[in-house]
Amino acid sequence: MQARLSLVDSSIKSMHQTLFYEAIHRDRHSRYFYLWTLVSTRKFPYWLPRPKVHSLKIYLFPLKMEIIEEESMSPDQLAVNQRFLEACRALDIEQIQKLVRDEGADAWFQEPETGKGPLHLVVEGAHVAEAEEKDAAVEKADECLSWLMGNGAVWNQMDREYRTPACRAREYGLAKLYANCIDAGVRAELLLAHLNRKQQTSAGARNEAYLNSKLTWTEPTDGAKTLLDDENNGVMMSWEKDIMKRSAEVLVPTPGEGSVLNIGFGLGIVDTYLQERRPKRHVIVEAHPDVIAEMKAQGWDKKPGVEIVEGRWQDVAGQLAEQEVFDSVYYDAFGEYYEDLREFFDEAVGLLSPDGILSFFHGLGADNQTFYDVYTKLVMLELYDFGLDTEWEELYIDMPDEEWEGTKRRYWALETASSVSHSIFKFVHQLSKDSALTKLLLAKPTPSEA
Ligand SMILES: C[S@@+](CC[C@H](N)C(=O)[O-])C[C@H]1O[C@@H](n2cnc3c(N)ncnc32)[C@H](O)[C@@H]1O
Repeated sequence: MQARLSLVDSSIKSMHQTLFYEAIHRDRHSRYFYLWTLVSTRKFPYWLPRPKVHSLKIYLFPLKMEIIEEESMSPDQLAVNQRFLEACRALDIEQIQKLVRDEGADAWFQEPETGKGPLHLVVEGAHVAEAEEKDAAVEKADECLSWLMGNGAVWNQMDREYRTPACRAREYGLAKLYANCIDAGVRAELLLAHLNRKQQTSAGARNEAYLNSKLTWTEPTDGAKTLLDDENNGVMMSWEKDIMKRSAEVLVPTPGEGSVLNIGFGLGIVDTYLQERRPKRHVIVEAHPDVIAEMKAQGWDKKPGVEIVEGRWQDVAGQLAEQEVFDSVYYDAFGEYYEDLREFFDEAVGLLSPDGILSFFHGLGADNQTFYDVYTKLVMLELYDFGLDTEWEELYIDMPDEEWEGTKRRYWALETASSVSHSIFKFVHQLSKDSALTKLLLAKPTPSEA
């Protein structure tokens, strides 16, 4: 155990809470939701039938927790917290600061009935302002959000309807407030990623369970194929075919030329489109024994220009980089996390030619638009560190509901379910003034403290 995250009062409580929410968001499996519910009791003695259990120590990497004490909020503290939430909805920054600094209001407090926290209420305060006062209200709300997020409020706190403040800002069309929350998310993620790296979390260990699972191929509808793991998680589905097609066009822009490296065969969709473009060299790295057997059964080991490299990319990338660099690299592994992807970026720069193109299937946080937007920005910033500039393409996808039948959960659940960001990263020779990254880097930073 290397990191200890405690929700017990401390000056860095807000950071811990933010990190914890991040941890929940990262893995949407039920055990984290369970954990989340328990943690909610810290803030919300009313939420569970076990109201006294609400002070927890939380350990990440590996995730573990223990209950260290039992306490309940005093009526005085409750009253201060309720006044604090009222001040938030009234967008009264002076009162907010006074209540947190001088009277000990808890910046993470949530309304018992609705689960709305201070940031939700600030967003709501701007939303309900009369039309003629809207602009001024948004400015005030923006100031309140910045101060609160710098002083303990949790950027991705969820209300009872599982909406974060950013989700609400987006629903109400409050773009400035949405952007402020997203920036806070990016900062929190950067911090978390930094801590993860410090703890040297083993990226390799994480997808071990998947690689040992038994896979099945199904046909949910006529002509559609799905690859499932032994828990019925969709490893790959046919609805992604248009993304794969476009990716292949980007990766092999001139048919008959170039070399391409693809990580993760899955259903072989991207590889089939890549083959249609006849690259001179086409290397596929695949780690799952069932998938490798299927590839061979389909004759992929005999296709022109194709080389199958059996093993985890973590184990074979170094060796590949020592041979010949690639004109393009694609990444779409399964059972991996953001840290693995970032680790892959590190490898990818060594695998790419100086004009090389890197692309990956961007499904990070794809069950919630807010988290998706946070990851989109985060990836751009991280890749800039590796000398890569970013282009996003938005694709409109036909995603029939029937295709999800038999899968454990939808890993794609954005409101615009048919629109998917497709990523293209190119080495930065000179950053164009129109690039998405230039705009991001030049964007006015959001103050985190008043
Ligand atoms: C989402 S599928 C890829 C789908 C593919 N893009 C397509 O068009 O069908 C992910 C694939 O990555 C493989 N994979 C998972 N972890 C891997 C790793 N560490 N190294 C190499 N392959 C891995 C899985 O076995 C699976 O076949």
